[in-house]
Amino acid sequence: MNLSTNSVTVRFGAVAALQNVNVKVASGERRAVIGPNGAGKTTLFDVITGQRRPTSGKVLIDDADVTGFTVWRRARLGLARTFQRSTLFANLTVAENLAIAIRSRLKVGSRIWPGRLEREVGAEVSSRLEMARLPALRHRLAWRLGHGERRIVEIELALARDPRLLLLDEPMAGLSGAEREAAVTRLRALPEAVTVILVEHDLDVVFAIAQRVSVLDHGVLIADGTPAEIRANRRVQEVYLGGAD
Ligand SMILES: Nc1ncnc2c1ncn2[C@@H]1O[C@H](COP(=O)(O)OP(=O)(O)OP(=O)(O)O)[C@@H](O)[C@H]1O
Ligand SMILES: [Mg+2]
Repeated sequence: MNLSTNSVTVRFGAVAALQNVNVKVASGERRAVIGPNGAGKTTLFDVITGQRRPTSGKVLIDDADVTGFTVWRRARLGLARTFQRSTLFANLTVAENLAIAIRSRLKVGSRIWPGRLEREVGAEVSSRLEMARLPALRHRLAWRLGHGERRIVEIELALARDPRLLLLDEPMAGLSGAEREAAVTRLRALPEAVTVILVEHDLDVVFAIAQRVSVLDHGVLIADGTPAEIRANRRVQEVYLGGAD
């Protein structure tokens, strides 16, 4: 699934969270979006998913204008995202949280006998917990998860929707080194057909995953290129890397 934003501007009163932002993400691409706090990264995700209408500009998915589509309609096209803040059901177990995502996907467009549906959901919960290396957390209530465990479950929840375009908003924030490594491995192993856009502050993670990097600063796209181009970009070094080489 390809994605482009066409001169997207989002204003909050006097603040322009995004100013004429043009990004073009190819189908199957791994893209990172970086930039300082308040640069407009989450706002860009909100515009892509439909959580926020741009003040002006367009969003195109698979070359079709979806600017007027609801969040729900875009999700049906194959968009899934994670949020900076937790969205798990706190009083349900990890398995139950996963089952909700899987069930909603399996139900769409299919008439499936409830007993069989639940067997399929159960089997998929097990295999997803296995792939995420979380089988021990199956019966843990979400509120009892550690921070890193919760973030990893949230990535798994988004994957359970079987998205064609996956948007991850700082998925690695607060993860331990080992958790980070596991999450990077998991994301690198995603099917090539899935397009991934990742907002991330950890540049090691960015450079381990992304094929291209877009840099926002104060709502302006100041650079867009390969990891090597971004590392070498003077302006990026000034605003984002604090002038360090
Ligand atoms: N609902 C809102 N109302 C008013 N201003 C907002 C709103 N949401 C975001 N902003 C402002 O828009 C700008 C961009 O915010 P955004 O959350 O997109 O940045 P970000 O790059 O995701 O930052 P962070 O790295 O801290 O998550 C900021 O100046 C922020 O204060
Ligand atoms: Mg943000």
